[in-house]
Amino acid sequence: MKWTEGVVRHKKVWADGLFTLQIEAPEVEPFEPGQFLQLGLEQPDGHLHRPYSVASPHGRILDFFIVLVEDGRLTPLLWKMEAGDALDVSTRAAGSFTLSNCPDAETLWLLCTGTGLAPYIAMLRTDTPWQRYPKIVVVHGVRYGRDLAYQEELAEHGRRHGEQFGYIPVVSREKVTGALEGRITTCIANGSLEATAGTAIDTTSCVMMCGNPAMLDETEALLGQRGLRRHKRKEPGQIVVERYW
Ligand SMILES: Cc1cc2nc3c(=O)[nH]c(=O)nc-3n(C[C@H](O)[C@H](O)[C@H](O)COP(=O)(O)OP(=O)(O)OC[C@H]3O[C@@H](n4cnc5c(N)ncnc54)[C@H](O)[C@@H]3O)c2cc1C
Ligand SMILES: NC(=O)c1ccc[n+]([C@@H]2O[C@H](COP(=O)([O-])OP(=O)(O)OC[C@H]3O[C@@H](n4cnc5c(N)ncnc54)[C@H](OP(=O)(O)O)[C@@H]3O)[C@@H](O)[C@H]2O)c1
Repeated sequence: MKWTEGVVRHKKVWADGLFTLQIEAPEVEPFEPGQFLQLGLEQPDGHLHRPYSVASPHGRILDFFIVLVEDGRLTPLLWKMEAGDALDVSTRAAGSFTLSNCPDAETLWLLCTGTGLAPYIAMLRTDTPWQRYPKIVVVHGVRYGRDLAYQEELAEHGRRHGEQFGYIPVVSREKVTGALEGRITTCIANGSLEATAGTAIDTTSCVMMCGNPAMLDETEALLGQRGLRRHKRKEPGQIVVERYW
Protein backbone atom coordinates (compact mmCIF):
# COMPACT_ATOMS: atom_id res chain seq x y z
CA MET A 1 0.00 0.00 0.00
CA LYS A 2 1.21 3.52 -0.78
CA TRP A 3 1.13 5.99 2.12
CA THR A 4 1.20 9.76 2.43
CA GLU A 5 1.60 11.92 5.53
CA GLY A 6 -1.60 13.41 6.90
CA VAL A 7 -1.70 16.16 9.53
CA VAL A 8 -4.63 16.55 11.92
CA ARG A 9 -5.98 20.08 11.45
CA HIS A 10 -9.02 19.83 13.71
CA LYS A 11 -10.54 17.40 16.17
CA LYS A 12 -14.26 17.67 16.87
CA VAL A 13 -15.44 15.70 19.91
CA TRP A 14 -19.16 14.84 19.68
CA ALA A 15 -19.22 12.83 22.92
CA ASP A 16 -16.59 11.10 25.04
CA GLY A 17 -14.85 8.68 22.63
CA LEU A 18 -16.82 9.79 19.56
CA PHE A 19 -14.97 12.22 17.32
CA THR A 20 -14.21 13.57 13.86
CA LEU A 21 -10.62 14.15 12.75
CA GLN A 22 -10.08 16.61 9.92
CA ILE A 23 -6.86 15.52 8.28
CA GLU A 24 -4.91 17.47 5.70
CA ALA A 25 -3.64 14.93 3.16
CA PRO A 26 -3.34 16.66 -0.23
CA GLU A 27 -1.70 13.67 -1.93
CA VAL A 28 -4.72 11.41 -1.56
CA GLU A 29 -6.01 10.65 -5.05
CA PRO A 30 -9.57 11.61 -6.07
CA PHE A 31 -12.21 9.12 -4.86
CA GLU A 32 -15.95 8.69 -4.82
CA PRO A 33 -17.99 9.54 -1.69
CA GLY A 34 -18.64 6.32 0.26
CA GLN A 35 -15.14 4.92 -0.33
CA PHE A 36 -12.65 4.34 2.48
CA LEU A 37 -8.98 5.07 3.15
CA GLN A 38 -6.58 3.45 5.58
CA LEU A 39 -5.30 5.43 8.56
CA GLY A 40 -2.12 4.13 10.14
CA LEU A 41 0.64 4.67 12.67
CA GLU A 42 4.07 3.10 12.93
CA GLN A 43 4.28 1.00 16.13
CA PRO A 44 7.18 -0.89 17.73
CA ASP A 45 5.73 -4.17 16.42
CA GLY A 46 5.01 -2.88 12.90
CA HIS A 47 2.68 -0.64 10.96
CA LEU A 48 -0.81 -0.52 12.50
CA HIS A 49 -3.60 0.52 10.13
CA ARG A 50 -7.36 0.18 9.71
CA PRO A 51 -9.90 1.21 7.05
CA TYR A 52 -12.09 4.31 7.63
CA SER A 53 -14.88 5.65 5.43
CA VAL A 54 -14.12 9.22 4.45
CA ALA A 55 -16.82 11.50 5.91
CA SER A 56 -16.24 14.20 3.29
CA PRO A 57 -15.88 14.32 -0.48
CA HIS A 58 -12.36 14.47 -1.94
CA GLY A 59 -10.46 17.61 -1.05
CA ARG A 60 -7.27 18.86 0.59
CA ILE A 61 -8.76 18.18 4.03
CA LEU A 62 -10.55 14.88 4.66
CA ASP A 63 -12.94 14.12 7.54
CA PHE A 64 -13.04 10.82 9.46
CA PHE A 65 -15.84 10.04 11.96
CA ILE A 66 -14.42 7.58 14.49
CA VAL A 67 -15.49 5.84 17.69
CA LEU A 68 -13.07 4.76 20.41
CA VAL A 69 -13.17 0.97 20.81
CA GLU A 70 -11.74 0.78 24.33
CA ASP A 71 -10.02 -2.58 23.89
CA GLY A 72 -9.13 -1.87 20.25
CA ARG A 73 -5.58 -1.30 19.02
CA LEU A 74 -5.67 1.74 16.74
CA THR A 75 -8.61 3.83 17.98
CA PRO A 76 -7.11 4.54 21.45
CA LEU A 77 -4.15 6.11 19.58
CA LEU A 78 -6.41 8.06 17.19
CA TRP A 79 -8.53 9.29 20.12
CA LYS A 80 -5.39 10.83 21.70
CA MET A 81 -4.48 12.77 18.56
CA GLU A 82 -4.72 16.54 18.50
CA ALA A 83 -4.31 19.29 15.87
CA GLY A 84 -0.76 19.24 14.49
CA ASP A 85 -0.20 15.48 14.97
CA ALA A 86 0.83 13.42 11.92
CA LEU A 87 -0.32 9.98 10.79
CA ASP A 88 -0.21 7.83 7.67
CA VAL A 89 -3.05 7.94 5.15
CA SER A 90 -3.30 5.58 2.18
CA THR A 91 -3.14 7.51 -1.08
CA ARG A 92 -5.74 5.46 -2.94
CA ALA A 93 -9.29 4.92 -1.67
CA ALA A 94 -11.09 1.59 -2.07
CA GLY A 95 -14.59 0.19 -1.79
CA SER A 96 -17.78 -0.06 -3.78
CA PHE A 97 -20.18 1.46 -1.22
CA THR A 98 -20.91 4.35 -3.57
CA LEU A 99 -23.90 5.84 -5.36
CA SER A 100 -22.48 4.73 -8.71
CA ASN A 101 -23.00 1.16 -7.48
CA CYS A 102 -26.61 1.86 -6.48
CA PRO A 103 -29.71 1.44 -8.64
CA ASP A 104 -32.06 4.31 -9.46
CA ALA A 105 -35.02 4.37 -7.08
CA GLU A 106 -37.95 6.43 -5.85
CA THR A 107 -36.50 6.56 -2.33
CA LEU A 108 -32.87 6.28 -1.27
CA TRP A 109 -32.76 4.88 2.28
CA LEU A 110 -29.44 5.48 4.06
CA LEU A 111 -29.47 3.20 7.13
CA CYS A 112 -26.59 3.16 9.61
CA THR A 113 -25.49 2.55 13.16
CA GLY A 114 -22.83 4.55 15.03
CA THR A 115 -20.00 5.79 12.82
CA GLY A 116 -21.64 4.08 9.83
CA LEU A 117 -23.07 7.55 9.19
CA ALA A 118 -19.69 8.66 7.77
CA PRO A 119 -20.11 7.67 4.10
CA TYR A 120 -23.55 9.31 3.94
CA ILE A 121 -22.19 12.61 5.26
CA ALA A 122 -19.73 12.55 2.35
CA MET A 123 -22.40 11.68 -0.25
CA LEU A 124 -24.90 14.28 0.94
CA ARG A 125 -22.29 17.04 0.59
CA THR A 126 -22.30 16.46 -3.21
CA ASP A 127 -25.03 17.18 -5.77
CA THR A 128 -25.32 13.56 -6.98
CA PRO A 129 -27.90 12.13 -4.54
CA TRP A 130 -30.07 15.25 -4.70
CA GLN A 131 -30.17 15.18 -8.49
CA ARG A 132 -30.76 11.46 -8.70
CA TYR A 133 -33.29 10.51 -5.98
CA PRO A 134 -36.73 12.13 -5.49
CA LYS A 135 -36.61 11.23 -1.77
CA ILE A 136 -33.67 10.54 0.58
CA VAL A 137 -34.08 9.27 4.16
CA VAL A 138 -31.16 9.01 6.61
CA VAL A 139 -31.79 6.63 9.53
CA HIS A 140 -29.14 6.80 12.27
CA GLY A 141 -29.24 4.15 15.01
CA VAL A 142 -27.26 4.88 18.18
CA ARG A 143 -27.20 3.82 21.82
CA TYR A 144 -27.64 7.27 23.44
CA GLY A 145 -28.84 10.71 22.32
CA ARG A 146 -25.32 12.11 22.75
CA ASP A 147 -24.12 9.79 19.93
CA LEU A 148 -26.32 11.62 17.38
CA ALA A 149 -23.43 13.41 15.67
CA TYR A 150 -23.87 15.66 12.62
CA GLN A 151 -27.43 16.64 13.63
CA GLU A 152 -26.97 20.28 12.64
CA GLU A 153 -25.59 19.41 9.22
CA LEU A 154 -28.44 16.97 8.62
CA ALA A 155 -31.00 19.55 9.75
CA GLU A 156 -29.48 21.98 7.23
CA HIS A 157 -30.04 19.44 4.44
CA GLY A 158 -33.66 19.31 5.60
CA ARG A 159 -34.00 23.09 5.45
CA ARG A 160 -32.42 23.23 2.01
CA HIS A 161 -34.20 20.26 0.43
CA GLY A 162 -37.55 20.24 2.26
CA GLU A 163 -39.73 17.20 1.54
CA GLN A 164 -36.97 15.56 -0.50
CA PHE A 165 -35.05 14.81 2.71
CA GLY A 166 -35.86 12.96 5.91
CA TYR A 167 -33.62 12.37 8.93
CA ILE A 168 -34.76 9.83 11.51
CA PRO A 169 -32.65 9.27 14.64
CA VAL A 170 -33.24 5.94 16.39
CA VAL A 171 -31.96 5.64 19.97
CA SER A 172 -31.82 2.26 21.70
CA ARG A 173 -30.82 2.88 25.32
CA GLU A 174 -32.75 5.97 26.41
CA LYS A 175 -35.82 7.99 25.49
CA VAL A 176 -34.96 11.04 23.37
CA THR A 177 -37.52 13.58 22.17
CA GLY A 178 -37.76 13.58 18.38
CA ALA A 179 -36.10 10.17 18.03
CA LEU A 180 -37.61 6.72 17.57
CA GLU A 181 -37.01 4.34 20.45
CA GLY A 182 -35.27 0.98 20.03
CA ARG A 183 -33.22 -0.46 17.20
CA ILE A 184 -33.55 0.19 13.47
CA THR A 185 -34.65 -3.42 13.05
CA THR A 186 -37.46 -3.08 15.63
CA CYS A 187 -38.64 0.14 14.00
CA ILE A 188 -38.78 -1.58 10.60
CA ALA A 189 -40.62 -4.57 12.04
CA ASN A 190 -43.23 -2.49 13.92
CA GLY A 191 -43.75 -0.05 11.03
CA SER A 192 -42.71 3.08 12.98
CA LEU A 193 -39.77 3.86 10.69
CA GLU A 194 -41.84 4.03 7.52
CA ALA A 195 -44.73 5.80 9.29
CA THR A 196 -42.29 8.50 10.46
CA ALA A 197 -40.67 8.81 7.02
CA GLY A 198 -44.04 8.89 5.27
CA THR A 199 -42.75 6.46 2.65
CA ALA A 200 -42.32 2.70 2.36
CA ILE A 201 -39.24 0.51 2.11
CA ASP A 202 -40.18 -1.61 -0.91
CA THR A 203 -38.84 -2.75 -4.25
CA THR A 204 -39.00 0.82 -5.59
CA SER A 205 -36.38 1.78 -2.95
CA CYS A 206 -32.61 1.63 -2.88
CA VAL A 207 -31.41 0.73 0.64
CA MET A 208 -27.81 1.42 1.59
CA MET A 209 -26.76 0.12 5.01
CA CYS A 210 -23.55 0.57 6.95
CA GLY A 211 -22.15 -0.18 10.42
CA ASN A 212 -22.78 -2.93 12.95
CA PRO A 213 -22.76 -6.29 11.10
CA ALA A 214 -25.59 -7.75 13.19
CA MET A 215 -27.81 -4.82 12.17
CA LEU A 216 -26.87 -5.38 8.51
CA ASP A 217 -27.70 -9.09 8.62
CA GLU A 218 -30.98 -8.67 10.50
CA THR A 219 -32.13 -5.78 8.33
CA GLU A 220 -31.28 -7.66 5.15
CA ALA A 221 -33.30 -10.65 6.42
CA LEU A 222 -36.29 -8.41 7.27
CA LEU A 223 -36.22 -6.70 3.89
CA GLY A 224 -35.69 -10.04 2.16
CA GLN A 225 -39.15 -11.03 3.39
CA ARG A 226 -40.48 -8.10 1.33
CA GLY A 227 -38.63 -9.19 -1.81
CA LEU A 228 -35.66 -6.81 -1.55
CA ARG A 229 -32.31 -8.30 -2.63
CA ARG A 230 -28.65 -7.32 -2.83
CA HIS A 231 -27.97 -5.17 -5.85
CA LYS A 232 -25.53 -6.67 -8.31
CA ARG A 233 -24.53 -5.30 -11.69
CA LYS A 234 -25.79 -8.37 -13.56
CA GLU A 235 -28.70 -9.01 -11.22
CA PRO A 236 -30.33 -5.73 -10.18
CA GLY A 237 -31.67 -5.51 -6.65
CA GLN A 238 -32.17 -2.83 -4.00
CA ILE A 239 -29.66 -3.41 -1.15
CA VAL A 240 -26.05 -2.16 -0.99
CA VAL A 241 -24.03 -2.99 2.15
CA GLU A 242 -20.83 -1.88 3.94
CA ARG A 243 -19.65 -4.01 6.89
CA TYR A 244 -17.41 -2.32 9.45
CA TRP A 245 -16.36 -5.54 11.20
C1 LIG B 1 -14.77 -0.50 5.03
C2 LIG B 1 -14.66 -0.09 6.49
C3 LIG B 1 -14.87 1.23 6.83
C4 LIG B 1 -14.80 1.61 8.17
N1 LIG B 1 -15.05 2.91 8.51
C5 LIG B 1 -15.05 3.28 9.80
C6 LIG B 1 -15.40 4.61 10.18
O1 LIG B 1 -15.68 5.48 9.33
N2 LIG B 1 -15.36 4.92 11.50
C7 LIG B 1 -15.04 4.00 12.46
O2 LIG B 1 -15.04 4.36 13.64
N3 LIG B 1 -14.74 2.73 12.13
C8 LIG B 1 -14.71 2.35 10.84
N4 LIG B 1 -14.36 1.07 10.50
C9 LIG B 1 -13.83 0.18 11.56
C10 LIG B 1 -12.31 0.37 11.67
O3 LIG B 1 -11.66 -0.12 10.53
C11 LIG B 1 -11.70 -0.37 12.90
O4 LIG B 1 -12.12 -1.71 12.87
C12 LIG B 1 -12.13 0.26 14.21
O5 LIG B 1 -11.76 1.63 14.26
C13 LIG B 1 -11.48 -0.48 15.39
O6 LIG B 1 -10.09 -0.44 15.27
P1 LIG B 1 -9.18 -0.83 16.52
O7 LIG B 1 -7.80 -1.12 16.00
O8 LIG B 1 -9.27 0.22 17.58
O9 LIG B 1 -9.87 -2.13 17.07
P2 LIG B 1 -9.50 -3.66 16.80
O10 LIG B 1 -8.39 -4.04 17.70
O11 LIG B 1 -9.25 -3.86 15.35
O12 LIG B 1 -10.89 -4.32 17.24
C14 LIG B 1 -11.93 -4.49 16.29
C15 LIG B 1 -13.28 -4.67 17.02
O13 LIG B 1 -13.81 -3.39 17.37
C16 LIG B 1 -15.22 -3.33 17.16
N5 LIG B 1 -15.48 -2.23 16.19
C17 LIG B 1 -14.78 -1.94 15.08
N6 LIG B 1 -15.25 -0.83 14.46
C18 LIG B 1 -16.27 -0.41 15.18
C19 LIG B 1 -17.15 0.68 15.04
N7 LIG B 1 -17.03 1.61 14.04
N8 LIG B 1 -18.13 0.82 15.94
C20 LIG B 1 -18.23 -0.06 16.94
N9 LIG B 1 -17.43 -1.12 17.16
C21 LIG B 1 -16.45 -1.30 16.28
C22 LIG B 1 -15.60 -4.69 16.66
O14 LIG B 1 -16.04 -5.44 17.76
C23 LIG B 1 -14.33 -5.25 16.09
O15 LIG B 1 -14.31 -6.64 16.09
C24 LIG B 1 -14.45 0.66 9.17
C25 LIG B 1 -14.21 -0.66 8.79
C26 LIG B 1 -14.32 -1.04 7.47
C27 LIG B 1 -14.07 -2.48 7.11
N1 LIG C 1 -20.95 5.70 20.88
C1 LIG C 1 -20.16 6.34 21.69
O1 LIG C 1 -20.30 7.51 21.96
C2 LIG C 1 -18.99 5.61 22.28
C3 LIG C 1 -18.07 6.32 23.00
C4 LIG C 1 -16.98 5.65 23.52
C5 LIG C 1 -16.82 4.32 23.26
N2 LIG C 1 -17.74 3.62 22.56
C6 LIG C 1 -17.53 2.21 22.27
O2 LIG C 1 -17.60 2.00 20.86
C7 LIG C 1 -18.12 0.70 20.59
C8 LIG C 1 -19.26 0.81 19.65
O3 LIG C 1 -20.35 1.57 20.15
P1 LIG C 1 -21.49 2.19 19.23
O4 LIG C 1 -22.56 2.59 20.15
O5 LIG C 1 -20.92 3.21 18.31
O6 LIG C 1 -21.91 0.99 18.23
P2 LIG C 1 -22.93 -0.26 18.36
O7 LIG C 1 -22.63 -1.10 19.53
O8 LIG C 1 -22.87 -0.88 17.02
O9 LIG C 1 -24.38 0.38 18.60
C9 LIG C 1 -24.99 1.29 17.70
C10 LIG C 1 -26.46 1.00 17.57
O10 LIG C 1 -26.63 -0.25 16.87
C11 LIG C 1 -27.60 -1.00 17.56
N3 LIG C 1 -27.51 -2.44 17.26
C12 LIG C 1 -26.66 -3.35 17.78
N4 LIG C 1 -26.94 -4.56 17.28
C13 LIG C 1 -28.00 -4.42 16.44
C14 LIG C 1 -28.76 -5.32 15.66
N5 LIG C 1 -28.52 -6.62 15.64
N6 LIG C 1 -29.79 -4.82 14.94
C15 LIG C 1 -30.08 -3.51 14.96
N7 LIG C 1 -29.39 -2.62 15.69
C16 LIG C 1 -28.37 -3.07 16.43
C17 LIG C 1 -27.34 -0.70 19.02
O11 LIG C 1 -28.46 -1.11 19.80
P3 LIG C 1 -28.29 -1.69 21.32
O12 LIG C 1 -28.12 -0.49 22.20
O13 LIG C 1 -29.57 -2.44 21.54
O14 LIG C 1 -27.07 -2.57 21.34
C18 LIG C 1 -27.16 0.80 18.93
O15 LIG C 1 -28.41 1.44 18.88
C19 LIG C 1 -18.45 0.09 21.93
O16 LIG C 1 -17.34 -0.70 22.30
C20 LIG C 1 -18.58 1.30 22.84
O17 LIG C 1 -18.31 0.99 24.19
C21 LIG C 1 -18.83 4.27 22.06
